[in-house]
Amino acid sequence: MTTVRTRVAIVGAGPAGLFLSHLLHLSGIESVVIDQRSREQIETTIRAGILEHGTVAAFEATGASTRVKTVGNQHDGIELRFDGEGHRIDFADLVGRSVWLYPQHEALKDLIAVRLEQGQDLRFGVTALRVEDEASDQPRIIAEDADGEPLEIVADVVVGADGSRSVVRKAVSGTHSGFFREYPFAWFGILCEAPPSADELIYSNSPDGFALISQRSATVQRMYFQCAPDTDPQSYSEAQLWDALQLRVPGTTLTEGPIFQRDVLRFRSFVADEVRKNRVALIGDAAHTVPPTGAKGMNLAIADVIVLERALRALLLENDERLIEQFPETVLRRIWKAQHFSWWMTSMLHADENATDFDRRRQVGELRSVVESRAGSTYLAEAYTGWPIDV
Ligand code: PHB
Repeated sequence: MTTVRTRVAIVGAGPAGLFLSHLLHLSGIESVVIDQRSREQIETTIRAGILEHGTVAAFEATGASTRVKTVGNQHDGIELRFDGEGHRIDFADLVGRSVWLYPQHEALKDLIAVRLEQGQDLRFGVTALRVEDEASDQPRIIAEDADGEPLEIVADVVVGADGSRSVVRKAVSGTHSGFFREYPFAWFGILCEAPPSADELIYSNSPDGFALISQRSATVQRMYFQCAPDTDPQSYSEAQLWDALQLRVPGTTLTEGPIFQRDVLRFRSFVADEVRKNRVALIGDAAHTVPPTGAKGMNLAIADVIVLERALRALLLENDERLIEQFPETVLRRIWKAQHFSWWMTSMLHADENATDFDRRRQVGELRSVVESRAGSTYLAEAYTGWPIDV
């Protein structure tokens, strides 16, 4: 068994784990990051792409990613479409903020490059099996390296940034793992080669279900439509996919092109019942998952990191435990606000097959009270562009 010693052992080289190691490095705190995936897998898996105002500011100020503003696109609003009409929510006017469309895997490429350049101990293909001694001041990760050899990482703090199927979570939450909500639908996502169909993202509610018209670049577009969770991605022909999308954005004509990737995303809401136990903490999807409708997933992870890093700095450099003790309370406030926003966007925009006529008309009434009211639109704009990160 090889033993490695470090101050902070991080499981997961996603946005949360990598950004945490980056901030710790800037504070002079050594860490080791492991991930069971290969670098290539991490850098090529397609995920969502909206960065909040505060996420972009944090990436820029710390040099974690310097390409957001050159490769990404600034979006000053979104369109909410229902009853055959589009309504623009003007973020710049309502809250003076915008968001950036910058695919998560591009942010990951930036983060990995910066971490490696700065000498980060970052190990791919290493599988965490469990956390031991979680009640002590020296918790340990028991892992298996890329060759199947046993590896142990002993640290002052262990952080689980290892996604919704977190291995670290067991050491924090025990067997009662948390609060759940399942949804009776999923998203069918496609990537196609075509010019954008609209300047901004379109979130569309229609009697046939929800659709989201998003983008990736001048030549590649990302679109989703609501489907049943057990849908087989191969069950649709290309023509059927375009029909399904087109049907769900009445009043808009989509620019079609060859579809080169398709996937079905099941989603749910989840919050772990504990996000810290002694010197083991959870961040990002390991602590919470949200449905993608509010574009909150990665942004919430980055907000967790900012709070945790301050707490680790106080603990490890000044022996001050106050912030790490407050960590759950601080992050859970934002997490539950984001849970509400993601649930609200999801329930307001999707068609539930058990909905009555009353429910459907009420839903359109709800959408009207957002787009026809400055107060209603401002709530959406504030939440979508991101609440200030208050630490
Ligand atoms: C995406 O572009 O993949 C995307 C954008 C906004 C969302 C979800 C996904 O709310």
